[in-house]
Amino acid sequence: MANTAELTVDGKSYSFPTLEGTEHEKAFDISNLRDQTGYVTLDRGYKNTGATKSAITFLDGELGILQYRGYSIEDLAAKASFLEVAYLLIYGELPTQEEFSKFEDGIRRHTLVNEDMRKIFNGFPVNAHPMGVLSSLVSAMSTFYPDSQEEKTDLDLHIVRLLAKLPTIATWSYKRSLGHPTNYPKNNLDYIPNFLNMMFSLPVEDYKVDPVVAEALNVLLILHADHEQNCSTSTVRLVGSSQANIYSSISSGISALWGPLHGGANQEVIEMLEDIKADGGDVSKYVEMAKNAKTTGFRLFGFGHRVYKNFDPRAKIIKKAADDVLTKLGVNDPILEIAKGLEEAALNDDYFVSRKLYPNVDFYSGIIYRALGIPTNMFTVMFAIGRLPGWIAQWKEMREQKEPIGRPRQIYTGATLREFVPIEKR
Ligand code: CMC
Repeated sequence: MANTAELTVDGKSYSFPTLEGTEHEKAFDISNLRDQTGYVTLDRGYKNTGATKSAITFLDGELGILQYRGYSIEDLAAKASFLEVAYLLIYGELPTQEEFSKFEDGIRRHTLVNEDMRKIFNGFPVNAHPMGVLSSLVSAMSTFYPDSQEEKTDLDLHIVRLLAKLPTIATWSYKRSLGHPTNYPKNNLDYIPNFLNMMFSLPVEDYKVDPVVAEALNVLLILHADHEQNCSTSTVRLVGSSQANIYSSISSGISALWGPLHGGANQEVIEMLEDIKADGGDVSKYVEMAKNAKTTGFRLFGFGHRVYKNFDPRAKIIKKAADDVLTKLGVNDPILEIAKGLEEAALNDDYFVSRKLYPNVDFYSGIIYRALGIPTNMFTVMFAIGRLPGWIAQWKEMREQKEPIGRPRQIYTGATLREFVPIEKR
């Protein structure tokens, strides 16, 4: 007989079914809880709430395991291309050569962005944060492709457009911040070289893509490609659950990613490491400040994770990649040593050990981005380019599963019914 969970409340007993995922994670199915008992659950930050069933990404935070569609992150980072991983996440299987060529060709042919989007872009302040620009322009895409809001739309075409155009739009902010002309995509280049060319080529001189840089970026994008029901992905699913189109839903995900507790942490990490360097490089002072987070308000950015209570497997790969890339490129970045010192100090400190706070994906990624020449305020944009296939896959799954509209409950703690008092009597 299947397991059931028994709940006794107000002297009455209720049974709820339990369920088990393919990797043996267990849940109580409380879909009928309120109907049966009159109670709701309170779970701030959804720390214990499974909002959906999903077949895309599995992670075990205690064991430090991450898999996309059953493939380990270590295997994919070592052997796959970012677009192969994108296909895997979105369509469920690794593509055959024929499927991949069709997918890649489609993306190649849709990299150009409507010139009217530039008019919107030109309206932003010169120093606008690239994440605000990215979120706004992806939302604006819904107005250029209004059929995306229709039920019977060509979703595969919108998927290709998003994957193709996001890197193009992303490079505009960087070029404008330098006062340089933006570059058009070159469709004879592969996905990552095309992005690098738009970022770094100038009309006055040739730019040759360094394969070390392209490979490092390939790994970083794969590591960011999905992470199950995190804040931005849940946002994408929640917005999409109202049947909003895919562009608007993903634009909301980009906004959610921007925050420093989520993807924005990669920018904060580098700024923190720079501050430590400018302050003489004494990591212990910053470890102490983080231990007193409640009074100092300071957290070690790039440390801790809602789900990982062990090493983030992505951080392990990135730490090694940071060493390799900096060596291959001949870059000597003093903040790499500061980062390693900070990690060592934290991992030997009982505050971090007892709370299971380990370096996360954002801790070393910025050091690589910096070595590749990507400016700090573009780091979270890089995360967004990487996460895009995951958001798309999760949005598509949510629609295919016909998820009900997301609408949590609350425990109301405000005033009880009272009478309106006219303004002159208040
Ligand atoms: N530095 C110092 N103390 C910390 C940190 C940190 N980075 N992270 C958590 N703590 C402490 C926190 O003060 C609390 O202590 P206490 O039990 O004494 O109150 C305890 O650890 C648990 O913290 P929490 O905020 O309840 O943990 P959470 O699971 O809700 O938060 C987190 C996870 C990622 C928001 C948090 O660890 C954090 O703020 N880290 C820094 C920001 C960061 O690096 N974010 C990137 C996350 S990975 C990339 C992504 O997917 O977005």
